[in-house]
Amino acid sequence: MREWKAQWIRPQEDMGDICPVFQKAWSPEKEVAGAELLITALGVYEARINGKRVGEYILAPGWTAYEKRLQYQQYDVTELLKAENELSVLVGKGWYSSSMPGWMMTEDRIRRAARKTGLLAELHVVYTDGTQEVIATDKSWNCGESQIRFSEIYDGEIYDASYTRKKWAETAEFEGPWETLIPQEGEEIREMERVQAKSIFVTPAGETVVDFGQEVTGYVEFHVNAKAGDTVKILHGEVLDQQGNFYNDNYRSAKAELIYTCKDGVQTWHPVLTFYGFRYIKLVEFPGKAAAEQFTAVAVYSNMKKTGSLRCSDAGLNQLFSNIFWGQKDNFLDVPTDCPQRDERLGWTGDAQVFIKAASYNYDTQKFYRKWLHDLAAEQRADGAVGHVIPNFLPDEGPSAAWADAATICPWQMYLTYGDKEILAEQFESMKRWVDYITGATKDKFLWTGGEHFGDWLGLDAPVGSYKGSSREDFIASAFYAYSTSLFVKAGKLLGEDVASYEVLYHNIVEKFRKTYPEYKTQTEYILAIWFELAEDLQKAADELAELIKKDGSQMRTGFVGTPYILPVLSKYDHTDLAYTLLLRKEYPSWLYSVEKGATTIWEHWDGIMENGEFWSTDMNSFNHYAYGSVADWVYEVAAGINVVEDAPGFEKIRIEPKADQRLEWLEASIRTRKGLVSSRWTWQEDRIKYEITTPSESVVIIDGREYVVEPGSYTFWG
Ligand code: BGC
Repeated sequence: MREWKAQWIRPQEDMGDICPVFQKAWSPEKEVAGAELLITALGVYEARINGKRVGEYILAPGWTAYEKRLQYQQYDVTELLKAENELSVLVGKGWYSSSMPGWMMTEDRIRRAARKTGLLAELHVVYTDGTQEVIATDKSWNCGESQIRFSEIYDGEIYDASYTRKKWAETAEFEGPWETLIPQEGEEIREMERVQAKSIFVTPAGETVVDFGQEVTGYVEFHVNAKAGDTVKILHGEVLDQQGNFYNDNYRSAKAELIYTCKDGVQTWHPVLTFYGFRYIKLVEFPGKAAAEQFTAVAVYSNMKKTGSLRCSDAGLNQLFSNIFWGQKDNFLDVPTDCPQRDERLGWTGDAQVFIKAASYNYDTQKFYRKWLHDLAAEQRADGAVGHVIPNFLPDEGPSAAWADAATICPWQMYLTYGDKEILAEQFESMKRWVDYITGATKDKFLWTGGEHFGDWLGLDAPVGSYKGSSREDFIASAFYAYSTSLFVKAGKLLGEDVASYEVLYHNIVEKFRKTYPEYKTQTEYILAIWFELAEDLQKAADELAELIKKDGSQMRTGFVGTPYILPVLSKYDHTDLAYTLLLRKEYPSWLYSVEKGATTIWEHWDGIMENGEFWSTDMNSFNHYAYGSVADWVYEVAAGINVVEDAPGFEKIRIEPKADQRLEWLEASIRTRKGLVSSRWTWQEDRIKYEITTPSESVVIIDGREYVVEPGSYTFWG
């Protein structure tokens, strides 16, 4: 733990919703050789030196399980210093004291929302003569009201550009956290992309609406020529309603507002300490006649390097791929969130484990998940239970199967994609505690019965009025118990740990599972029994699943739990044709249905907008929920055939086994792995298929069942 000279500070007198700004004037005594700012906040901050922004980190210090781990940042600020300097730092509520989650009033929510924000900072200056000076936060710093009159995660921001501060107020020191301070661990959140407004129009209801043509997470930047006191008031929405009017009832209690009071003249502004998920904005008030050129959507997300690419001959599928990538960008704002718009925006564990494989192929997510997994472990209850959301803003809820299993599934995927054994070592205790939790909590030994689960959440076979698909909850829970135990055993063996008793446990679970569930009643039950290798005769079960799907009209009936594995299961057991049929289907329910309806991100519901144009509901209807984007797994691994070899993870060795289909002319995928670029493309040429493969590692290429062992390089095969 580092020693801090600084004190935690906050305004002496509470400023209510107004964001304080802290200020310190300082002049160096000698010639400066270098300077660094170490800084963090309870809340979120934006620091400036002489009016220039320090670093590019938006919403720093990011979102962690604050009571256990609070990141501080370190910026080189040498270039920003002058003979006379002014440091100023804005502090807002951020995730720290916003009232989250929005749909449920809990004591914990009330407690967190009442927490006061604070600032801790040290400017370390090294002079050319080798001496040093530290300018540290303490009660000598000024503080005052800033122009940000209100800022909160769900409700948005209110800014008064015409406000000028009359005088500084007193700053108080307080006893803030020390032991929990850690250096920045995750990726920085940054302004990553800018999307120009595509059009501006008046709706049938007479509202002026701007369309960005793409759903983004971040904020709107606008410029306007106005008089002091003029108001800009903007609401955010994802879709238009059936009549073509502005709509955001699905944001539930999140106001997602931007209110800006103008100063005189031409001005450009965007919110500072919050974010929104949106494609459309409604100009409730705007000075003068607005034009599209005045608006830009700034996409703000974790600074991950793009590593994956998916393309093919079908425009609809290409849009789906784009939606998957955007779904990831829009929901990877320091924490993998379910959605970026309504009064949730939480790190739902189920969604995270469902999507982690695709996520790790699309982008370099190693640092991003590592930080989040450390939070998961830090938030684990004394009995090993894992929260529904990490950071755990729902601490009173018991764990659910397939959600809490993120504890084992996520580290294992990091190991496979990046060959990261260290993360297994770091998470090993957490994985163990999770498996032990189930063992201690179940009503029936070797199964997981009892408890409260989300089941096959949003399954298409849900009884009327329920969010949960028809698959049995005990079945799902027991299947994941087996799966998590198997991953824990694999991790233990790799790390040289004694996991013999867990191996026995695993075999007992499988045996008991087979006895208890000799038959499968739903698509998802089949899928889990096959993918987790619980069924005795896997081929027979897969054939039956294929029959069942065909009987269902070659349609999925699955939800969050079954959907990620449906195509992989079909392909693994010789039903790739049916897998393609599901992927290429355009009618509801299917991935392409939302594309047909104009989606630019992945929807929470297969029928977020129903065939008759009405909304599924207002209650639970996000148009930016990345989870079903997990279908990208199959496109990389099966359609293009790029596979990690479990014994040589991190693409140290690669198995490339593309599976073409006549309904597409060509398809290609690539992943920039730690070893280099792997890519696979197939193209129909008359009735033959040309396979073009580039691999950075020793690989096994399998074409039409024939195996070729190849060295790194580029190859062409004909099938
Ligand atoms: C979230 C989901 C989440 C689910 C749990 C929803 O409200 O948006 O994505 O996994 O609750 O059941």
